[in-house]
Amino acid sequence: MKNSFKFKKEIVNEELFNNNIALPHSEEYPDEEIIFSVKNFQFYYDNGAKHALKDINLEIFKRKVTAFIGPSGCGKSTLLRCFNRMNDLIDGNKKEGEILYKGTPIDTLNTIQLRSKVGMVFQQPNPFPMSIYNNITYGPKCQGLRNKKELDKIVYQSLNDVGLYEEVKDQITHSGTSLSGGQQQRLCIARCIAMSPDIILMDEPTSALDPIATLKIEELIRKLKEKYTIIIVTHNMQQAARISDYTAFFMLGELVEFNKTEEFFAHPKNKKSEDYITGKFS
Ligand SMILES: Nc1ncnc2c1ncn2[C@@H]1O[C@H](COP(=O)(O)OP(=O)(O)OP(=O)(O)O)[C@@H](O)[C@H]1O
Ligand SMILES: [Mg+2]
Repeated sequence: MKNSFKFKKEIVNEELFNNNIALPHSEEYPDEEIIFSVKNFQFYYDNGAKHALKDINLEIFKRKVTAFIGPSGCGKSTLLRCFNRMNDLIDGNKKEGEILYKGTPIDTLNTIQLRSKVGMVFQQPNPFPMSIYNNITYGPKCQGLRNKKELDKIVYQSLNDVGLYEEVKDQITHSGTSLSGGQQQRLCIARCIAMSPDIILMDEPTSALDPIATLKIEELIRKLKEKYTIIIVTHNMQQAARISDYTAFFMLGELVEFNKTEEFFAHPKNKKSEDYITGKFS
């Protein structure tokens, strides 16, 4: 599968596909391995008129769940979309500083390769208008995988990983859009997993779901972190407290506080964090 890609930089490719690559440990949290480092990062929309992210410095740790929280418009989604360079698609964007993925600046990477390693799940479940099977095999087929047995295995494994296999095994040829909202969101997560990502970015993945479907996704996130690194944007502070290991709190484009989630909620270091979690503003 590796050879079916056409990369601009062969060296970067080798490095990134080598899962044994030694990651640096965080100075502040020495047990943690750093998968993404955000360094002095600025992001602007509208040709610089809108300064959406201001001097962000942040580390994302391997196989941990990091929650991005903060009031509406503070830049959570903007930062999330920077990790797989989705914002590059927006006209008039400008960025300064850098984001390193396993030590390599993401701007030097081929975006197709980067996005295969950094998958994304959106607020509204968005299965493709095609069968459950084809939703999951879409990415691997785009990468050149044609072997039916291998594709079947990926479909089984991905659906099983998101707890959907038993629910949909008899309707695998039915349209993904025929599933319930919660099932559709799990299908979207399965589609993401089918690409064997390192990181899954989730932008308010449960805000369109009912409480039971939400709990299923939360359980799933807890399970998925055994294999994947997860960054989740959420408006729901209870959710951040329930599922994340680390919390990053943003306001007006600035990172106000980053801490272990338990610490963040029990002993916020910053007055603004305390005001936010005690509901003094939203
Ligand atoms: N495509 C865009 N063009 C111009 N400005 C944008 C664009 N997308 C976002 N912004 C602005 O950038 C700032 C950060 O937006 P962003 O969507 O990242 O916030 P957010 O924290 O995710 O908010 P919410 O919780 O409401 O989703 C906001 O002021 C927003 O209006
Ligand atoms: Mg948002």
